[in-house]
Amino acid sequence: MTDTAIQLQGVTKRYGELQVLKGIDLSVPAGRFVAVIGKSGSGKSTLLAVMSGLEKADGGDVLLAGENLSGHSEARMAELRRRTIGFVFQSFNLIPSLSALDNVLLPTFFDGDAAASRARAVSLLEQVGLGGRLHHRPSQLSGGEQQRVAIARALVGHPKILLADEPTGNLDAETGADVLGLLLDMTRINGATLLIVTHDLDIAARADMKIEMKDGRILNGHA
Ligand SMILES: Nc1ncnc2c1ncn2[C@@H]1O[C@H](COP(=O)(O)OP(=O)(O)OP(=O)(O)O)[C@@H](O)[C@H]1O
Ligand SMILES: [Mg+2]
Repeated sequence: MTDTAIQLQGVTKRYGELQVLKGIDLSVPAGRFVAVIGKSGSGKSTLLAVMSGLEKADGGDVLLAGENLSGHSEARMAELRRRTIGFVFQSFNLIPSLSALDNVLLPTFFDGDAAASRARAVSLLEQVGLGGRLHHRPSQLSGGEQQRVAIARALVGHPKILLADEPTGNLDAETGADVLGLLLDMTRINGATLLIVTHDLDIAARADMKIEMKDGRILNGHA
């Protein structure tokens, strides 16, 4: 085990003509709460996608818990993500045909103890206030409820690294504070690293470390 949860060295990423990440150097110690801020379009979601291996960097290196992702096959990447990372997408990415409970259970599909997974999934949905919505499909849930299902799904596998893209963006202040509290509790319990993209400066103020992105670069170095 290493003390560095996430390390990026000279990471670049372009979409067509657009250079979205212009050489990112970043080192996140394990167990910290990191806030990523910056204007719309500055590259925050792309940074998370590259950091999690969902998108391949064009150049540079991404290391998760000391493991260099470059050269990993898709299958190896998927396995590493499944074991190590929880991801709350900006657009939720719930499976429309599955209930809230089955969406949360999806990442546990390959795990041994189905009953334990189900109990944890139900407990997480209760903790995000959706104990009464277990069998609703995403289309039957409000935006904020879908966001909370996505958060429960990201937590179900006890991730060592939790990446959350505006996880409170659709929530009222009180629900948002509850959800942030849950993310902090859940990650602190097992010493996990929490990285949140947020436009909420109150959330950013509570972080151990703030990263400000501007036009594909990190403004404030290693923070
Ligand atoms: N798959 C893609 N193909 C082409 N361009 C993309 C793609 N994904 C992102 N971009 C472009 O890359 C830039 C950075 O996008 P990104 O989603 O990382 O921004 P962001 O900082 O997360 O913004 P927001 O705060 O609005 O979510 C944007 O200009 C966007 O249009
Ligand atoms: Mg984004």
